[in-house]
Amino acid sequence: MKLIVVDNYQELSERAAGVLVTEVAVKPQAILGLATGSTPEGMYAQIVKLNREGKVDFSQVTTFNLDEYAGLAPEHEQSYYYYMHHQLFHQINIRPEQINMPSCDLEDVDQFCREYDQRIAAAGGIDLQVLGIGGNGHIGFNEPGEQLRVHTHLVDLTEDTIQANSRFFSSAEEVPKQAVTMGLGSIMLSKKIILLAAGKAKAEAIARTVCGLITTAIPASILQLHRDVIIIVDREAAALIT
Ligand code: F6R
Repeated sequence: MKLIVVDNYQELSERAAGVLVTEVAVKPQAILGLATGSTPEGMYAQIVKLNREGKVDFSQVTTFNLDEYAGLAPEHEQSYYYYMHHQLFHQINIRPEQINMPSCDLEDVDQFCREYDQRIAAAGGIDLQVLGIGGNGHIGFNEPGEQLRVHTHLVDLTEDTIQANSRFFSSAEEVPKQAVTMGLGSIMLSKKIILLAAGKAKAEAIARTVCGLITTAIPASILQLHRDVIIIVDREAAALIT
């Protein structure tokens, strides 16, 4: 793992955007795995700026998003579909048919999950996967528990995650209780991974990811087994690394 500790969120966003833009410059047909949440918002803003300045071209890029709330319609402001289209896709020159998002539809969800993994494999696998991390150590919505899942699947969100994400909704009751997420196999098969974290609420999860034992209690700890992971964190998120 390569650890980059930066001074502030702006620097984190610029460093992360730099990794992504370099990937696309080297491979214009790159397959990108993308995350949502508050952490990558600054990175997406920076990418939009670089695209407008003509410094990166997304016309041949394909994207696969990590996860989506189950049962939240695409037009719902808190759906990850809405987030991605407003923060990024509508603002860059990506072709709509090259965008892949997990479905929020619970009908035939198992079949959808199988097909999503097949689509990733058929595209040649993910070249660069962007990850955030939950305060409980989740990546995507692979929540801590006794077992971790390999493939894309429907997951019950933990109470920790529902509480953490209730800041985006008017109450915790409104947060969907389930989500569709890529499994850890799909994430670990990515050729390169960047994990972003900012703020002290992420410090323990980051410390356990970087220097703890590999455990299902901290799903991100499995990233220690990946050969090309860059972790970009601010000083607060890095505070407990020993
Ligand atoms: C979102 C995702 C989640 C978030 C994590 C951190 O697509 O996969 O794992 O990255 O919950 O969220 P923020 O950045 O809002 O703290």
